[in-house]
Amino acid sequence: MLIKRAPRFKASEITDHRLYLNRREFMLGAAALALLPTATQAAQASAAGQPLAAKRNPDYVIGDKPTDFKSATTYNNFYEFGTDKEDPARLGHMLKPRPWTVQVDGLVHKPKRFDIEEILRFPLEERVYSLRCVEAWSMVIPWIGFPLSALLKQVEPTGKARYVEFTTLKDPEQFPAQKPSLAAFGGVEWPYVEGLRLDEAMHPLALVTVGMYGQVLPNQNGAPIRIVVPWKYGFKSAKSLVRIRLTEEQPKTAWEKSAPQEYGFYSNVNPAVDHPRWSQATERRIGEFMRRKTPMFNGYAEQVGSLYAGMDLKKNY
Ligand code: MTE
Repeated sequence: MLIKRAPRFKASEITDHRLYLNRREFMLGAAALALLPTATQAAQASAAGQPLAAKRNPDYVIGDKPTDFKSATTYNNFYEFGTDKEDPARLGHMLKPRPWTVQVDGLVHKPKRFDIEEILRFPLEERVYSLRCVEAWSMVIPWIGFPLSALLKQVEPTGKARYVEFTTLKDPEQFPAQKPSLAAFGGVEWPYVEGLRLDEAMHPLALVTVGMYGQVLPNQNGAPIRIVVPWKYGFKSAKSLVRIRLTEEQPKTAWEKSAPQEYGFYSNVNPAVDHPRWSQATERRIGEFMRRKTPMFNGYAEQVGSLYAGMDLKKNY
């Protein structure tokens, strides 16, 4: 996805930054030891790895074998931690997923700030979806969450609401790549913003996600709350959300701002529409040797095709 392939920063500057982070983490660790936090406080700071119970919903399980947990948690795109696939796993511990709230507002009758503990009380279910990245690789992940429609119904969208905007946390203390000195490195303007049409957001496949593989969502996968929209390229599935806003105007997404000719608002998985720099006809399933053909809407054409009836999907890429 990398847009600015010629970074403004020399490799040596970035190495320095990483050394700085290590030093900073060491100092923070020393300070934390001095304060001797209780076990409960420590557990609250990061719940990743703790078991999270959810019954599998057989209506939303694809037959393909899930990707192994290690690959799903060490090969990630989360530019707030850096542009290398290993950066999110390496630096993910800097993100503190507790306490956490998500503001749901905009064109709604009942705007509300949800505490993450309240979010976790929605009836959770497990669904096995494949996630197809725009970079032409894919994974199969057993996600835990609940339909986004259930959350939106609680705030009662007004008749004017036509779109839903998702915003990721902006905090350079927790997301090192948001530091002003590195801010332009990945080509993304922070905070990371994504969006859906309201009818897409209300589709039963669109999932508010809080866990995976029977566990609380690891930081590198978007803790404590993200969305997963399986018929769209992975970048639509924004991580670590702090705000969900209902709007009349189509939201300006982070990738549209940085490269509108490459990343459109819709970004439906479509093997017939190539990315300007590579083909989208096939994909590499992580863990497999042979490439696979990419199906229309990532295999969910039957469920979501009607959302786009009559639309030119080459223009609305
Ligand atoms: N959300 C935020 N906030 N920042 C990101 O860089 N990357 C996106 C998406 N959500 C991204 C994000 C992309 S490109 C992909 S493919 C998926 O997250 C990857 O999700 P995963 O690491 O859980 O597989």
